[in-house]
Amino acid sequence: MYQTLLTEVKNLIFYISINRESKLNALNIQTLSEIKTAVLSTYDDHSVSAIIITGSGKKAFAAGADIEEFAKFNVEEGTRMSADGHAVLRAIENCPKPVIAAINGFALGGGNELAMSCHIRVASENAKFGQPEVNLGIIPGYAGTQRLAQLVGKGKALELLMTADIIDAQTALNFGLINYVVPQENLIAKCEEIIEKIKSKSPLAISSIIRCVNAHYEKKIDGNNAEINEFGNFFGSEDFVEGTTAFLERRKANFKGH
Ligand code: COA
Repeated sequence: MYQTLLTEVKNLIFYISINRESKLNALNIQTLSEIKTAVLSTYDDHSVSAIIITGSGKKAFAAGADIEEFAKFNVEEGTRMSADGHAVLRAIENCPKPVIAAINGFALGGGNELAMSCHIRVASENAKFGQPEVNLGIIPGYAGTQRLAQLVGKGKALELLMTADIIDAQTALNFGLINYVVPQENLIAKCEEIIEKIKSKSPLAISSIIRCVNAHYEKKIDGNNAEINEFGNFFGSEDFVEGTTAFLERRKANFKGH
């Protein structure tokens, strides 16, 4: 079904692996479009409760947008490339199910931007991060100037964006760019461990958390109002009745997502 991705559903987890290993999983237009289709397909799919995105091989998560492809673009094509890329990454950011980036090597340029659009980032020890676009006489086009500042703060973001410095996984962890660093052989297992914790919670609450936290960064939405409304709605949900009843009956809650 996909030309540039390997996908699989196992144990309610949708695994997406960018499959352009010989090009260090560089993101061409087709790959991004397929990632968007794959992620959107999970929104209403009850056989999926979480997504893990990774890169094929042991060297790269994604080494950026495909330079060979965009090198010949004109202004119109460049603008469309950026707008379309933004839409792909927003589909990930707004996914109602948790999306974890399993960063197994280089996450540069568009690769780092892809990782930053995921809800949680786990990296292997060999991972390297950076926004090297200024080396190519361009700037990030997939919201790197926005999400990097959100994750690491304005000062560090400006430094990384202007110097094109490549940082290692430990530094990325110290900066708050990623959540964990683990040995490469444990990378997917660590992501699955996090998902296992989330899976036992109310799916309604998980998607609400994602919407409320994202609301903080949406200029047209008041995040506090979003939380007040979302919170109130829970009082009409079966998951809320189940969660509070299970607590009072000293048993484990069994959430249905209603
Ligand atoms: N776009 C297109 N092709 C890319 C790519 C990208 N962003 N990154 C790597 N590749 C390709 C290389 O051209 C090479 O292809 P080839 O074997 O057909 O020549 C292949 O992937 C392997 O890359 P190579 O450069 O030989 O590996 P390396 O280990 O020497 O270097 C990097 C690894 C990541 C340091 C280097 O590939 C690099 O700098 N990539 C570009 C990073 C970048 O600027 N990204 C932001 C883009 S906006």
